[in-house]
Amino acid sequence: MITLKAYAKINLGLEVISRREDGFHELATVLQTVSLFDEIAVAPADALTLRCDRKGMTGERNLVWKAADLLQKESGTDQGAVIDLIKTIPIAAGLGGGSSDASATLRSLNALWKLDLDTPRLAELASQLGSDVPFFLQGGTQLGTGRGELLEPLLTPQGQWLVIVSPDIRVPGKTPALYGRLGPDDFTDGSTTAKLTEALRSGEAIPEECMVNAFERVADDAFPGLDRHRNVMLKAGADQVHLSGSGPSLFSLVKSESAGVALRRRLGGLGFHGIVVQTVTSEEQN
Ligand code: C5P
Repeated sequence: MITLKAYAKINLGLEVISRREDGFHELATVLQTVSLFDEIAVAPADALTLRCDRKGMTGERNLVWKAADLLQKESGTDQGAVIDLIKTIPIAAGLGGGSSDASATLRSLNALWKLDLDTPRLAELASQLGSDVPFFLQGGTQLGTGRGELLEPLLTPQGQWLVIVSPDIRVPGKTPALYGRLGPDDFTDGSTTAKLTEALRSGEAIPEECMVNAFERVADDAFPGLDRHRNVMLKAGADQVHLSGSGPSLFSLVKSESAGVALRRRLGGLGFHGIVVQTVTSEEQN
């Protein structure tokens, strides 16, 4: 049996540059894995089976299933597997949980089935599953361009603690719905992400003024009640509140683990759930 942690991500910055002919959007984003994770365990079997501790997650629409099915077909293997998925990352929350699970499935089955596919080949399969999936093959800190699948590793701001608040606000077909709300006013040229990237390349602290997110303007309309969560975080003492991905998860940078725990305690006192995490490097993941 092979067990892998499938880490969540946040976007330290996310600029949308333009809408493309193929319906996707051109991005400049900095992705960062954090220490909140699902677990994937795979064991040999004749056929494919997916089990999950959460109801309604085992169907063929689950990205884990799609990843296993794709790898099986592309490699031509006749091997199967029992895949166990333990969900901890909030679902459809802007934290990349489904994409990370899919990436961990590709990596673990590649090993279990002894397929020996190299990273570029896995990345090709990953990008067929979703724009965010290739990032999770290495994790850590990376600049994502194109539709998010063209990646460049950056230095991880190590030991950076954060507090995540993931509001339970469901929007059907969330990601395409949120992209669909963007207009030309939300498009920027990527120069803020270039500054953020430059700082991270030189190992500097995260320049918080460069942490922009193109979905900020449309998120409050798209997620009823999001604003209340943001205000509670500020009231609890968060300095700045950022949106992750296309939302609705929010996060704040904090100076230390104890500052994160204190913020979580104050959020709890106000009836809100905070998750204290730290940045994870690519080496820690692999
Ligand atoms: O790649 P993924 O399956 O995550 O994308 C889901 C949807 O989100 C796409 O069909 C598209 O509508 C939107 N999207 C986009 N531009 C991106 C990524 C996703 O418009 N860069």
